Amino acid sequence: MSLRDILLTIHIIGAAIWFGAAVWSTLAYPKHARKGTLAAVSEVEEKIGFVFPISIVLLLISGIWLVIEVGYEWESAFVVIGIIAIILSGGLNGRVFGPAKKEAAAAGGPVDPPAAMRWSPLVYTVIFVVTIWAMVVRLGV
Ligand code: HEM
Repeated sequence: MSLRDILLTIHIIGAAIWFGAAVWSTLAYPKHARKGTLAAVSEVEEKIGFVFPISIVLLLISGIWLVIEVGYEWESAFVVIGIIAIILSGGLNGRVFGPAKKEAAAAGGPVDPPAAMRWSPLVYTVIFVVTIWAMVVRLGV
């Protein structure tokens, strides 16, 4: 097994954790808000949420290392798209989805999910689909 194989395995596991969370957020959170179970879910998540920053760091480090190890160009479209995807989804999560989720959870009972809570995880799910495709076809190489 080469260093590339090891790095790519770590990279794909990191991406899979993130992508799964994005799809889940899109589908589950608005339903939790409507059911009034969002506060309980958020409380549990505060204890397990450390998994996501770790997976992002692994994704980023393995991606950067792969570029160097395999010898790709930093300007290649798929590399640029990967970096933009991390910045955009991190920003959306921290500034839009997170606050909207907090707002809905603070209601303490069944509530209509704020619009931002519905569109923001959908946007980063789409960002990830585009990024995974760009990585698979090595866009720009
Ligand atoms: C949300 C962000 C990202 C996702 C979802 C993602 C996903 C993936 C996936 C699924 C592959 C495997 C493609 C295949 O083998 O057919 C891959 C490969 C790769 N990714 Fe990413 N990636 C992301 C971010 C990044 C970043 C930020 C970088 C670089 C700074 C990067 C660099 C690479 C490289 C160089 C490969 C190809 C490795 C090789 O040819 O051996 N990725 N990525």
